[in-house]
Amino acid sequence: MADGYDQLTPDVVRPLLRGRLGTPYRWSPECASTQDVLRDVELPEGAVAVTDHQTGGRGRSGRAWEDVAGRSLLASLLLRPAAGAPAEQLSLVTGLAVAETIDRIAGVQSELKWPNDVLVGEAKVAGILLESSRGGVVCGVGVNVNHDAGELPEGTRLRPTSLRAVTGRRHDRAALLAELLLALERHYDTWGASGLAPLLPALEARHALRGARVRIGAVTGVVGPIAPDGRLSLTRDDGSAALVASGEAQVLGST
Ligand code: BTN
Repeated sequence: MADGYDQLTPDVVRPLLRGRLGTPYRWSPECASTQDVLRDVELPEGAVAVTDHQTGGRGRSGRAWEDVAGRSLLASLLLRPAAGAPAEQLSLVTGLAVAETIDRIAGVQSELKWPNDVLVGEAKVAGILLESSRGGVVCGVGVNVNHDAGELPEGTRLRPTSLRAVTGRRHDRAALLAELLLALERHYDTWGASGLAPLLPALEARHALRGARVRIGAVTGVVGPIAPDGRLSLTRDDGSAALVASGEAQVLGST
C-alpha cells in the first residue's frame, strides 16, 4: 500500500485540484477497475475514480493492466464530449496531457506511440483506455510511477518502465494527478472548441512512430504524420498512401 509519501486520498488530492476535472473525486484503496466505478452510473463530466490497487485492471484489446499496490497512478475520468464529436481522438488528447505532465513532474522526455501508449525511450510508462458509458467516455489512465525495476510486469507487449526506474527518484502521485487533470482540461477544452488541429504540432513533436516501418492489421508501410482527424498516415511499400483509424502498430524497423 501507499506508504504516506504520496497518498491519493481525497484530503490530499482535493486541495491540489485547480480546475473543474476531478470533481466528484471517488477514491478507494482497492477496486476491481476504476473504469467500473464510473461506468453506467449517473455522474457529471469531470468525475474521477482513483485507487491504489486494481484487482481486475483492464488494458486495451482485452489485456490485463497489472499494478503493484501504491506504485501506480490508476485513474479514470468521465468526459461527456458533444454529440457527434469524434471521441476516439480523446486517446491522443489524453496521451498528450499525460506525456506533458510526466515530463514536467519527472523531468523525462516522453513520446506517444500512436494511438495510446506513452513511452520513455522505447519503454512504456503509461497507457490509456477509452470506454463508452451512457453517452459519455470513461477515459482510463495508468502510469507506472514508483515501481522498482524488479516490480514491473513481465511478458508485456512493450517493455515496461516506471518514472522511478527512469529517473532513480520517487515521484508524488498526488501532484502528478492534479497536474494531469489540469493539462487534460486545457487540451480537452481546446479539442472541444476547435478539434484536434491546434494540438497536432504538439502531438507530432512526440510522434514516436514517425519514420518507422510498421504493420497495423493488414497494412504495412512507413509511418508519416498523424492526420488532422487523428488517423495514422502510412506509405505502403508500393508507394500508395493509407490512413489507419485504429489498431496496434508492430514496429518492423526504422527508415
Ligand atoms: C493500455 O495501455 O492497454 C491501457 C491501460 C489503461 C490502464 C488504466 S489504469 C486505470 C484504468 N482502469 C483500468 O482498469 N484500466 C485503466
